[in-house]
Amino acid sequence: MQTLRDLPSLRTAIDAMKSVGRPVALVPTMGALHEGHMALVEEARRHAGHVVVSIFVNPRQFGANEDLDAYPRREAKDAQMLQAAGVDALWAPTPQVMYPEGYATNISVSGITEGLDGAARPGHFDGVATVVTKLFNQVQPDVALFGEKDYQQLAMIRQMVRDLDMRIEIIGVPTQRAEDGLALSSRNAYLTDEERKEALALPRALGEAARQMEKGASVEAAIAKAITMLSAHGFEPIDYVTLCDAVTLEPMHVLDRPARLLGAAKLGRTRLIDNIAVEPS
Ligand code: PAF
Repeated sequence: MQTLRDLPSLRTAIDAMKSVGRPVALVPTMGALHEGHMALVEEARRHAGHVVVSIFVNPRQFGANEDLDAYPRREAKDAQMLQAAGVDALWAPTPQVMYPEGYATNISVSGITEGLDGAARPGHFDGVATVVTKLFNQVQPDVALFGEKDYQQLAMIRQMVRDLDMRIEIIGVPTQRAEDGLALSSRNAYLTDEERKEALALPRALGEAARQMEKGASVEAAIAKAITMLSAHGFEPIDYVTLCDAVTLEPMHVLDRPARLLGAAKLGRTRLIDNIAVEPS
């Protein structure tokens, strides 16, 4: 596996991959890789002859009070995992390569980014859209893979690719979970042992609310129960528990089409998110 840190070497490597005529897949990450990322890599290998993984902790998607400096960084271990998984190239640009002196362009997707995490984390999705556009332009992949755990991010990227006529197939990969059901996330590393136990209340509250809605309970009542359960397990603040249209992410008050129940809340200093499909009967 090649590790590439500047654009000329990346372009040479991508040209060589493309010259043999096999599609290139990109798995964008911020590192601190876990089984969730490795599931994206595995899926990428099913769709393309070459797999490129990027690791870049993108400062533009962190708010002023967020954990940019504390965000886990362990590139050597990540590189070993990627090498063992048969990845062709690791694209690991420095912040200066990504945003050189004088950088001035911002990509912003409206509508779909305005509620949920977009409301709780102003500027976050502009940062994601901007870096993902740059990664797409740099790597020129045929296919790119994103986890469903960041459901709003995935929906925004699909919208952006449609709107900007990008010739890239976007593949969403189901959330990978620990045996007890907690969604895998690099941020789980911040949880204390006690918080790790309480964290399970998030997938359980969403799962229980989804089942109730599917059985005909009112959306409002099921969400209220989920919020009560999260509070009882120490989540504070609860940013949202919201039922949304599965594609547009418009809020829904009646389960009359395929939907997604999304939740975000803080446990101690760790902000957790999760989501689950909810199907009308
Ligand atoms: O999901 C992530 O890890 C990041 O938001 C992404 C897509 C790599 C952009 O920095």
